[in-house]
Amino acid sequence: MRIKEAKFVKSSQKVNECPKPTMPEYAFIGRSNVGKSSLINMLCKRKKLAKISGTPGKTQLVNHFLIDDKWYLVDLPGYGYAKVSKTKRAIFSKLNETYILTRENLMCLFVLIDSRIPLQNSDLEFITTLGEKKVPFCIVFTKTDKLKKSTYDEQITDLKNQLLEHWEELPPLFHTSSVSGKGREEILNFIDDVNSQW
Ligand code: GTP
Ligand code: MG
Repeated sequence: MRIKEAKFVKSSQKVNECPKPTMPEYAFIGRSNVGKSSLINMLCKRKKLAKISGTPGKTQLVNHFLIDDKWYLVDLPGYGYAKVSKTKRAIFSKLNETYILTRENLMCLFVLIDSRIPLQNSDLEFITTLGEKKVPFCIVFTKTDKLKKSTYDEQITDLKNQLLEHWEELPPLFHTSSVSGKGREEILNFIDDVNSQW
């Protein structure tokens, strides 16, 4: 699938402020700094569509991007970032939780995991909750350009094994780099496929 047009629609503080759920949407979530906003820009081939920052915690609202007037990409606040104040963290997770559990046009949640580091408790907890609540999700390994091939293969085997300790089956997996564009075609084809079920 090719994206012709991507435009920012709005940032919402509450789920009921989000655009009307009249089109399919796909949201990106993961720990702060994992590369959610960068991945959205990479998919859309736009450098500054979603705001990127070296400082974790940049994305604090639900940000909607309309793609070709047909579907939405959504940038969600990160989870598991210790340096935001406890009250703020609670609001983030409440916002994410309400969004994930009530957003009726959410077709699939992309859970991003940094391919360079072992699976974190916050990731495990988060994915476990998704399983319990039967939220459809995929896993996206990010920043693959930062590892050499052999290290990457070992790291992914470890991550998969860690996941398989908790689940019998793995969800769809994607390997991405926002620097090289790796994984772009695969994710867009997946979205195209799911869009046809709308
Ligand atoms: P929050 O909004 O703070 O939760 O962060 P985020 O998950 O949106 O991460 P963001 O896209 O802002 O990226 C965080 C940092 O990682 C930035 O410095 C990016 O340039 C860098 N980064 C993201 N993706 C990649 C990637 O695939 N490769 C490399 N080398 N760097 C990346
Ligand atoms: Mg962000």
